[in-house]
Amino acid sequence: MKDLYQFFDDDSSTYTYLLTDADSKEAVIIDPVDQHLNQYMALLAEHDLKLRLVLETHAHADHITSAGALCSLTGARAATPVHCKITAAEIQLADGQSLTFGRQQVIQALHTPGHTAGAMSYYWNGKLFTGDSLLINGCGRTDFQNGDAGTLYDSITQRLFSYPDETLVYPCHDYDGNTSSTIGHEKRTNKRLAGKSRAEFIHMMDALDLPPPKMIDKAIPANMKLGLNIRHAAGS
Ligand SMILES: [Fe+2]
Repeated sequence: MKDLYQFFDDDSSTYTYLLTDADSKEAVIIDPVDQHLNQYMALLAEHDLKLRLVLETHAHADHITSAGALCSLTGARAATPVHCKITAAEIQLADGQSLTFGRQQVIQALHTPGHTAGAMSYYWNGKLFTGDSLLINGCGRTDFQNGDAGTLYDSITQRLFSYPDETLVYPCHDYDGNTSSTIGHEKRTNKRLAGKSRAEFIHMMDALDLPPPKMIDKAIPANMKLGLNIRHAAGS
C-alpha cells in the first residue's frame, strides 16, 4: 500500500488525493469527484482502509464533489474551509487548524485565499495540497467566487513559498500531464509568479478574460451541500 494515491478526472482535469496511514489503516481523501466514487470505494476496500476524513480545498466550480456520498457510505467526517460556508460539512476549518488521523498523522489547514475567498491548502508529511491556489507552472483563476489576484499573489508568495524548496506540491488540477512539483521548482519557473511583482501579477490575471467554467451554475450549488443534492451512480 502506498502512503499517497492520486486520481485524475479527465472531464475536469481534477486531481483527487487519498492519504493513508499504514499502521492504523486509516485514510483521508482530498477533493473527491462525483464520477469516481466507485473507484475510491474500491481502493478503500482493496486495502481494507477506514476513511476518516474527506477534505475540500474550496467549493469547486468545475466538477461536483462526492464528499457527501463518501461520508454517508463510510462514516467519515467532512472538513471544509470555514470561509467557504459549506455548512453541510461537520468540521469547519480555521486557518492553522490541525486534523489528525491514524497514528500521529497530522494535516495542517492553511488559508490561502485568492482563487476563491475561502480556499485552503493542506500540509501533510512534506507535501502541500494546494487546491487551485498554486498549480504546476500556473495558478487558479481569480475572477469569480470573490477571487482576488493580489490576495492570491500574497497567499502563494508569503504562505506557500515560505515552505522549504523540497516540499512537494500536489495541485487540484493539471492540464499538461504533470503530477507533482516542488515549492523550489515553482518559485524558480512558474510562468505566472517567477520574477513577477504583485502589480505585474494582478495586471496579468485581470487580462486573462476567461470564459466561465461550463459547470459553474450546477457545480457550486451542489458543492455547497457536499454533492448530497445530486444523485450518485454508486449511491443512488
Ligand atoms: Fe477551483
